[in-house]
Amino acid sequence: MSVVARQLARDEDDVIAGLRSHPKRLPCRLLYDAIGAELFERITQTDAYYPTRTEQALLDAYLPAIAREVGPRARVIEPGSGAGIKTRRLLAKLDHPASYVAIDVSREQLEHTATRLHQEQPDLEVEAIAADFTRAFTLPAPRSTVGRSLVFFPGSTIGNFEPFDAVAFLRRFQRFAGPRGLLLLGADGTRERDVLVRAYDDEQGVTAAFNTNLLAHLNRARGANFDLTAFDHRAVWNELRSRVEMHLVSRRAQTVRVGNESFELAAGEPLVTEYAYKHTALALRSILAAAGWRVREVYTGAVHPMRLWLCESASTR
Ligand code: AVI
Repeated sequence: MSVVARQLARDEDDVIAGLRSHPKRLPCRLLYDAIGAELFERITQTDAYYPTRTEQALLDAYLPAIAREVGPRARVIEPGSGAGIKTRRLLAKLDHPASYVAIDVSREQLEHTATRLHQEQPDLEVEAIAADFTRAFTLPAPRSTVGRSLVFFPGSTIGNFEPFDAVAFLRRFQRFAGPRGLLLLGADGTRERDVLVRAYDDEQGVTAAFNTNLLAHLNRARGANFDLTAFDHRAVWNELRSRVEMHLVSRRAQTVRVGNESFELAAGEPLVTEYAYKHTALALRSILAAAGWRVREVYTGAVHPMRLWLCESASTR
């Protein structure tokens, strides 16, 4: 196993910039500290949160067909690899995959995933890159001869980005994959408002705890003084923009401090913490086309509008 850890410096000004904007925003990446990552795992097990289960069923049904398209000795590249649960299923179905490159901001998560995969598949070359996939960086060349490269981006993570930003990093994924490279992307579609809102505001309050933890994270990491009892979690379906919005709504007029900066919040004022875009097939096709990916196959279930998109690089470079 080889673990190449590369930490990219990240400026933290997006917190201050977000709190100065209208409406006030906080970066959704801050939802995922160790506590947030654990809470997210719990969300995926709630009855209300359908995306993980639905995508899992699609992967189970279509991975054999996808594996035939990918061919032998693939190099699998996973931006935002996390715990790598879906990855293990993918690698198990592929024909003698040659290498796996995990990219994640969390070094602990990377070490854990890489070590576990190496134990399970000792012949697999595992590389772990500590980096933020939304920012430009160069991927090391494969160490040995490999077949096609496949960028694996499941989990509807694309929905958490503005379409313009999604185009930018999907374009970068093409460079990771090289000529004849493939992309396997999982993305949720639109459905009834009530189902969507419940998925992001479950009855047990796990999503509410996940959202509020962002403030606790800022208190710990940035010396902020958010009163966690002074905010309510809210999930809103924004039909016009085709996205669920997670808010933390200020219960009263208050002043909050982050480092040396202070911000006034009115009673009822929301802090926007996350968008979850629900892409129609048409919307996603245009994002992929703008990023230079040609759609080869769309796999979907009978009931749910969740889709797996298998794409190939339109570039010959
Ligand atoms: C990680 N991401 C795809 C989740 C989603 O559905 O947008 C994050 C999430 N936020 C609240 N619940 C789940």
